[in-house]
Parts: sequence; structure tokens; C-alpha cells
Amino acid sequence: MIIAHISDTHLTLDTPDAKRRMHDFASTIADINALDPPADVIVHTGDIVHNGRPDEYAQAAAVLAKARAPVYVLPGNKDDRANVRVAFSARGYFAPGHAFIDYAIEYYPVRVIALDTLSPGNGRGDFRREQAEHLIELIDAEPDKPIAVFTHHPPFEVTVGPDRFHFETMDSRARLRDALQRSGRVVAVFSGHVHRAAAGQIGRIPASVVPCIATTLRKGEYPPPMKTRAVYHIHRFNPAWGFVTESRVVTTDSSAPAERRIVSTRAASLADS
Ligand SMILES: [Fe+2]
Repeated sequence: MIIAHISDTHLTLDTPDAKRRMHDFASTIADINALDPPADVIVHTGDIVHNGRPDEYAQAAAVLAKARAPVYVLPGNKDDRANVRVAFSARGYFAPGHAFIDYAIEYYPVRVIALDTLSPGNGRGDFRREQAEHLIELIDAEPDKPIAVFTHHPPFEVTVGPDRFHFETMDSRARLRDALQRSGRVVAVFSGHVHRAAAGQIGRIPASVVPCIATTLRKGEYPPPMKTRAVYHIHRFNPAWGFVTESRVVTTDSSAPAERRIVSTRAASLADS
């Protein structure tokens, strides 16, 4: 199973870099469309847009409509939960009747579980008690398959960058961590939000962060040729090894081969060192 993981496109319509952010997003989708073998799914781990506005989501939906693989989204702190629902509910994967955008995708060898850590008005994440109960129900609904969990806020200590903790409270992060570790079937946790590559552990579960797609907001040092080229992750699952993550640089010239580097989910990307 091949998962293309993108995050933090932060689309806007009226900032000086608005066109750049749109270009980064569209180029990334074009790059994913050209993958051979193709991605089975694309997961966007939030901050899809920057101000949560319907007109921003209309632009984002238009870009994602060009993706060849099915696209799954979850909200980040810059997103508006209600407007995410309006923009993407027609795709049919949001669980009905739940206040939060927490859901499972069942069609693949690895179950994909997306979690909603948005706390309106707060840049940090939250994970409520009722969400932990729902997550345990989602995990227990299928007893055999491995599970990959996607969140916006990383539920592990990110030791690069100024901020190590990305949840409002230790309790909310502990609730999520406990629910993730309980079954032993969660084999990876993939997040965004930090705008730079990072890797860590949640107990024995490997966890990683993908850089932001918006190159104007990306953290960390990149050589000049890469400064305007978005980076995303391709997570390939092998039943014997688990996930191996490739950090892929989007090519700006579709006739040129894209640069590729292989990284382990256990090692921080060289692009950030
Ligand atoms: Fe964020």
C-alpha cells in the first residue's frame, strides 16, 4: 500500500504569497499523479487553508479534484470544521453523527484512521474524552489489519524547532497516546503542523511529521534549488517491515526526474538538518 502524505497547504486568496501557495499545492498533486507505481491514497493532514473561509476551501477542493488517487482530509488548527465538512462531505468518508471529523477507511491492506485534533481558536491540539472512546471503537471494529493513524498535531515530543508540545494539555495528549497504544495494531502515526520533518515514538509506535507543502511557510534550512519546491512524504507499507517513508521533492519541470531520498520513519529528514 502506498500513501502520499501532504499537509499544511495554508491556501489563501489575498496574501502576497497566495499564488505561490496555490502553485505549491497544485504542483504537489501533479507530482503525486505522476508517481509510478501510483499512490493508493492521498491523505492531507490539515491546515488545508489559512483562514477557514469557504472561498479558500473552494480553491482547495478544485486542486484536490485533479488528484487521481482518492483523497482524505482532516482539519488542522487553521481550518474551520464546519467549512471542511461542507467542502469535502460529498466524498462520503466523514462518519455521520459525530461532532468531530474522526473516521476510518477500510478498503486497503492497512486501515487508515484520521483524527480531528482541532481546538477552535487555539493553535494547539485537543483530543476529548468522547473522541478517545470513539477511537477505541474504531480500532476495535476490525481485529486483524494494521492501522496507520493520521493527525494534524503530532502526539509526540518534537525535539526540533522551538515548541516541543503541540497539545493544549498533557491530559489530552495522554488520552490520545493511550488510545493509540491500547490495541497493539497501530503501526504508525503520521502528522503535520510543525512545518518541518521530524520523527519520534509513541511508546513502540513510530511517528513522523511531514514538512508543510507551502514553501513560504516551511521551517528549516533548504538549499537554494529546493526553496521553491514542495516536499511531501510517501509512506509505503510492507507487511514484514511496516512503513518506510520516502521524502519526495516535487519537481518544477515535469520532464525532469524528481529528486528522491529515502528516509526511515525513525530518522529525521536530512532536508531539515
Ligand atoms: Fe497547524
